[in-house]
Amino acid sequence: MIIRPYEETDEQSWLRCRVLAFLDTAYYDNVLREKERYEHPAIELVAAEGEKIVGLLDIELDTEPGSVCSNGEKTGGMIWHLAVHPDYRRQGIARMLLNEAVQRAKALGAEYLEAWTRDDEWVREWYASAGFQPVDSYFQVHIDGGEELKDIVESRVPLLRPVSLFAHYTGSDKAYILSKFTRVHETVRYDLELTEPQ
Ligand SMILES: CC(C)(COP(=O)(O)OP(=O)(O)OC[C@H]1O[C@@H](n2cnc3c(N)ncnc32)[C@H](O)[C@@H]1OP(=O)(O)O)[C@@H](O)C(=O)NCCC(=O)NCCS
Repeated sequence: MIIRPYEETDEQSWLRCRVLAFLDTAYYDNVLREKERYEHPAIELVAAEGEKIVGLLDIELDTEPGSVCSNGEKTGGMIWHLAVHPDYRRQGIARMLLNEAVQRAKALGAEYLEAWTRDDEWVREWYASAGFQPVDSYFQVHIDGGEELKDIVESRVPLLRPVSLFAHYTGSDKAYILSKFTRVHETVRYDLELTEPQ
């Protein structure tokens, strides 16, 4: 198993690894059929066993504060994808990918890394174990048809009837949202500082 930069020929194996990795997480239905390409400079790493991709990490870098990441005062790197094939978990693969990415991100001038993750406790534990700190959160809400959609949205197009909705909730009445909808994910931002404290 080696950690190396992503190559175009990895794409199919990369996609399979990502789908399998997320199947038992709160992102189970977030499926990609093509790997993303980034507008800004990016660090795209894979853990490969022969031609099989068993782990992956994509980070897109700010060219100036706020161009990709949320902190408007520091340049960061946004972790868009981090996944390890389920048959290869707890072997330190994610940690190796992160260590390599941190070296590269620092060399490219990033001051911190930012990641957003849903409410899988074990994934949060991974971030905590790697030194990330929770700094922010909001709700992602999936609303599927019937009663839950009633009084929420209205179509302006005749005979076009919404049957599902995906929404972000950044308000403070979290208890109301939790009581009204069945599938609500608390989505948490984790930051990892890359600069030494002064
Ligand atoms: C989260 C994930 C990337 C971790 O990958 P991994 O290669 O298994 O993690 P590592 O082996 O590097 O784990 C390092 C440490 O993190 C912690 N950790 C990892 N998995 C954990 C789990 N399931 N429960 C608790 N702690 C965990 C442990 O401290 C672990 O060290 P240890 O095994 O010596 O105890 C992987 O489980 C995964 O792909 N999850 C699904 C996709 C996902 O949610 N990605 C996050 C993007 S939002």
